[in-house]
Amino acid sequence: MPGELSPIDKAKFVAARKSVDYVEDGMRVGLGTGSTAAWMVRCLAELVRENGLRIKGVPTSTRTAELARELGIDVISLDEAKWLDLTIDGADEFDGDLNLIKGGGGALLQEKIVATASDQMIVIADVAKEVDTLGAFPLPLEVIPFGWQTTQALVEEMLISLDVMGRETSLRMNGDRPFITDEGNYIIDLHLNRIGNARQLAMAVNQMPGVVENGLFIDICDVVIVGHGNGKVEVRDINEGTVEESRLDFLEEENLFSDLGE
Ligand code: A5P
Repeated sequence: MPGELSPIDKAKFVAARKSVDYVEDGMRVGLGTGSTAAWMVRCLAELVRENGLRIKGVPTSTRTAELARELGIDVISLDEAKWLDLTIDGADEFDGDLNLIKGGGGALLQEKIVATASDQMIVIADVAKEVDTLGAFPLPLEVIPFGWQTTQALVEEMLISLDVMGRETSLRMNGDRPFITDEGNYIIDLHLNRIGNARQLAMAVNQMPGVVENGLFIDICDVVIVGHGNGKVEVRDINEGTVEESRLDFLEEENLFSDLGE
C-alpha cells in the first residue's frame, strides 16, 4: 500500500507517475532500468490497461523487458523501432546542466544507446540524486572481459592526468563472481568523488580499447522530473529553461500497488 512506502520510494513513485503524462498514443517509448523506472513501467502499463493507451516499448535491459511484458506493454526491439519519441529512465546522479551518472544497475550501455536514439530523454529521480558536481556516485565503465585487468590498470593510469578527486577502481561483483551485463561484459566502477570535467573524462575513457561505454550521460537528458517524499514534483526542462511544480495524491494510485509483492 502507498502509505507503507518510504519517503524515497514515494519520491521515486511521484516522479515516475508524473513522467507518463508525457507519453502520447502511438509513441515508441524507451523504457529505462532501475527501481524508479520500474514504477514508471507500472504507471505506463496501467494507462495501457485502463485507458487503452497504445504504445510500443523498447526496454533497456532484460529486467525491464520482463516487467513490461508481464504487465501487458507491447515490447519491441530498438532495431524494430529504429527511432523513439521518448525515453524515460532513472539516474544515479544529475547536475544543474542535467548531465548524469547512470549504470548503478549495470544497464548503462543499452540505456545510452536507447536514450541517444530518442527525440527526448526524461529522467525521473528522487531529490537525493541531485548534485552540484557529478562523481560522488561511482562512475561505471562497461568493459570487455578480455584483458579487463589491463584495461583497469590503463584507466587508473589515465585518471592521473584527469580532473578527479579519487582514483580507486573496482570490478563490480555479483556474489563471488564478476557482475555480467546484458551484453556479456564486466563493469569497473571508478570511485572519483568529484569529476571536474565530465565531458573530458567521458571522451578520454572511451578512447581505451577495452572500454565499451561509460555511465556519463552528457547533453542527452532534456527533462528531469524530481520527486519529493511529500508528493511534490518538479519538472526541469533544460531546453525551455523552465521549472514547474505540482503535487501528486498517493490515494488515487492504490490499484498500482495492489499487486506489488515487494
Ligand atoms: C541502471 O543501470 C541505472 O542507470 C539506473 O537508471 C539508476 O541506477 C537509477 O536506479 P534507481 O532508480 O533504482 O535509483
